[in-house]
This record gives sequence, structure tokens and C-alpha cells, in this order.
Amino acid sequence: MSTENVSTENVSKENLQYLIETATNARQCALARYSNFCVGAALEAEGGAVYTGCNVESAAYEQTICAERVAIWKALSEGERKFTRLAVVVDTERLTPPCGACRQVIWEFCGDIPVTLANLRGDIETYHMKELLPHPFDSGFLEETEAERE
Ligand code: THU
Repeated sequence: MSTENVSTENVSKENLQYLIETATNARQCALARYSNFCVGAALEAEGGAVYTGCNVESAAYEQTICAERVAIWKALSEGERKFTRLAVVVDTERLTPPCGACRQVIWEFCGDIPVTLANLRGDIETYHMKELLPHPFDSGFLEETEAERE
């Protein structure tokens, strides 16, 4: 099965395939000795640069970080501020979506980008962030309380 439920009219299939392959390669670097669940991510910035991430697990489990956030932190720390799309690759039969914490971070720093989920069998699905995180919390709410305090 290979489906895409979001229009990718501005995105050539070749480029999407490249992003998925890049995320697949990043997955090889995953440090997932506790879960054995290896995840790769590839984030495309507006200018076309691609930033990769893999999950890195800590012996103090809480410090574990997801592949998506590694890619986002890498890109932000290199000065990137606008992003066009993200690919996430996991070897699961059901395509693995970003966890809740990652959805929050993707929304805050990337906005309503398309997120393409893929596995190693060639299955692909694309969702927009608004679908993955309906009714999101963001900095707009913080500004509202500050206004009230004055
Ligand atoms: N993981 C990710 O890297 N991305 C997600 O969105 C889901 C979970 C990682 C975290 C942990 O290392 C492993 O998968 C199992 O939860």
C-alpha cells in the first residue's frame, strides 16, 4: 500500500523520496538499546537544506529524545527558522506518527507543515500538522495572560 492523503503539488515525488531516504539513513544512527525502536527523521528547511535526526535513548529513560526533536533542534541551532516538510521513518507495519511531545514542538517551530510517515516496506502517508494536533497550544495564549496581568 502506498497512499498520500495530502496534496503535494509543490513537492516533486523525487524530492519526497529523497527526504524519506534521508530519514531512512538517519534511522541507522538511532541509539535505541532500551526500546529497540529505531526512528529516523528528515526535516526540510525553506532553502532546501535537510536536517536529520534519530532517537537517542538514555539509561535514565526520561532523558531520551525522539528523532523528530533532534532534527528540529539541529536545524534551529544552525539558524534555520522556516520549514517545509518532515519525514519520519520507522520499521512498523502501521506507520508511526510523531508522539505528543514532538507534535507540540513540530507545531511551534514548523507550523502546519506536511509530515510524511514511511516504513521500510515502501508504505507512505502524509498528514498536515493541523490534523495531527488539532486545537494546539502555542505562544499566543501566553501573550493573552500577560495582557490581563497589567
Ligand atoms: N520515538 C521517536 O523517536 N519518535 C516518536 O515520535 C515516537 C517515539 C522514540 C523514542 C524512544 O527512543 C522510542 O521511540 C520508543 O518510544
